[in-house]
Amino acid sequence: MAYAAFRSIGAYVPEKVLTNEELSKMVDTSDEWITKRTGIKERHIAAKDEYTSDLGAKAAELAIQRSGIDKSEIDMVVCATISPDYFCMPSTATIISTKLGLKNVTAFDISAACTGFVYILSIAKAFIESGMKKNVLIIGAEKLSSITDYSDRGTCILFGDGAGAAVISATDNKDEAIIDVHTGADGEYADLLMTPNGGSGSEHDSLTQEANGCFMQMKGNETFKVAVRTLTKDVKEILADNNIESDSIKHFIPHQANYRIIKAVGDALKMRDEQVVLTVSKYGNTSGASIPMAMNDIYENGTLKAGELMLLDAFGGGLTWGSALVPF
Ligand code: ACO
Repeated sequence: MAYAAFRSIGAYVPEKVLTNEELSKMVDTSDEWITKRTGIKERHIAAKDEYTSDLGAKAAELAIQRSGIDKSEIDMVVCATISPDYFCMPSTATIISTKLGLKNVTAFDISAACTGFVYILSIAKAFIESGMKKNVLIIGAEKLSSITDYSDRGTCILFGDGAGAAVISATDNKDEAIIDVHTGADGEYADLLMTPNGGSGSEHDSLTQEANGCFMQMKGNETFKVAVRTLTKDVKEILADNNIESDSIKHFIPHQANYRIIKAVGDALKMRDEQVVLTVSKYGNTSGASIPMAMNDIYENGTLKAGELMLLDAFGGGLTWGSALVPF
């Protein structure tokens, strides 16, 4: 049986930075409130003519280049996004594939909100281990600014745009293989985080095509509590299932939604500060892109080295959650 291993990482953030100070001129908020409640200081915002697929393609280009494999060897592209270029079709993964000049690939999107990257990691692992694919390009890409209501202070302070990508390849070497990926979902909590308009579930008249802005809505406080509870349980389970102590994790890379959630989960797992990767202050919450973007940060600053054990965890709309034990 082939194993699936991480081969490379890449990321891209758009140029424009939106600071807390700038946001406080747009809605009734302050740098002090945002920093204290979330840990976020700024986020990047894509240009009008810069689409999710552009962000994803730039991150993927870097990941492919760093992987050392030829583009022609990529046989599948999976994109995790809740802000696709186009709702319904075509998928953002197909658009990215074309922008990269990839031929003969299977390409599709998945929707698991902030847990998207952990979900696509599990998909890549399964396709490779089954022998169906050899080199899978996985991309978390989001232009969340396109589905953010900048008059709602409860959500607009949280989100940013960006993309991260990884090449996952078949290997015979068990030591470098992805150890385990957990994924879960519970639709009972669907109303905590949703974009109520824009889909067939929205209450608008299809015949008259009433305008229906597709913006994120969130019950932040309830989401916060469920996130801490669910993540702590899930991460404890994946560590126990694989007989791994939290102490042997080199890099704990959680989804970057809120510093306080990361801190609460990290404390419950007895993680030391130096194990926990934090990028939320400069990127905000970039949903499915946040984990590969954080991974790319520590790769580029020289902290992440080949063979080191990473623990990923994420939580998002659906509700969905997941965790993964992965050597880099
Ligand atoms: N500026 C100033 N005041 C604000 C702001 C703001 N931007 N937003 C809310 N407030 C006010 C509220 O109106 C409320 O005022 P009140 O006490 O007078 O009623 C007060 O601040 C407290 O509001 P809470 O919602 O209880 O604040 P909380 O401490 O929970 O922080 C936050 C809000 C930051 C949204 C937090 O709940 C959070 O991070 N939740 C989790 C988000 C998350 O993890 N989402 C999952 C992933 S996202 C995805 O899947 C796309």
